[in-house]
Amino acid sequence: MKLVACGDFHAPHTVGWAFERVLDITKKFKPDIFLNLGDWADLSSATSHPSTDTHTQEEEYDECARQARMIRNVVGNAQKVWFLGNHEFRISKYCANVPSRIKTMLVWDKHPKFNAELHDWKVVPYEFGSPGLKKWGPVIASHGYRTGAFGCEREAVEAIGMAGWPSKAIYVRGHDHDLIPPEQCHRGTTKLPWWWCNPGTLGPLHPAYAKRETTAGWRHGVALIEYSRKALTVEVVDVGTTSGGRGRASYRLSIGH
Ligand SMILES: [Fe+2]
Ligand SMILES: [Fe+2]
Repeated sequence: MKLVACGDFHAPHTVGWAFERVLDITKKFKPDIFLNLGDWADLSSATSHPSTDTHTQEEEYDECARQARMIRNVVGNAQKVWFLGNHEFRISKYCANVPSRIKTMLVWDKHPKFNAELHDWKVVPYEFGSPGLKKWGPVIASHGYRTGAFGCEREAVEAIGMAGWPSKAIYVRGHDHDLIPPEQCHRGTTKLPWWWCNPGTLGPLHPAYAKRETTAGWRHGVALIEYSRKALTVEVVDVGTTSGGRGRASYRLSIGH
């Protein structure tokens, strides 16, 4: 079984060349399952941070619809999963009481073009618990909820626990935009039989809204995962920082089962 995971597109601010490079890699890999790890739309209309954006919400969803079409052209009938991120969650929370006649401008599943593209996508809620996680064999995924290496590793152990402690499993998440190669979880010096990784973001690497945080570890990337009854292989590909440049690195984990 082959899965591709990437996310944090933050449309319409998605970095086009990085998105296309990830789609090229995806095309060669021929996944059975495509995971969009969330924060697909930036939804700056509902941000609590200062924003200088001048585009409309409709334009964000138009761009998401265009990206969904590009993904479909590459993965065809593969299973498609969208983990809602905190950006999507924010607008659904703020718009709960908005009159339905103007919801097409605000909520993605009321936007005709984007919603039509989503007809065969499974949409996973933003909720840190079983509803917000999905599991395929030794692979567990969600948007991600915590930040920082310590918080993310702790979240990995919690998520794998919620998935029933499958042995030699990996937790794949996005959210904090740092590209993390497959890392083994541990308690003190004891290594645990679980790993986690993050393919980074396909949005901008140094956006104005992130002034308060460090973006030093933010990278564009994609995770390529393959498992059978005998083995799990995870490759996190850092596709680089400039359109003309080459990919920076590829990190590979292979575990026998
Ligand atoms: Fe994000
Ligand atoms: Fe997020």
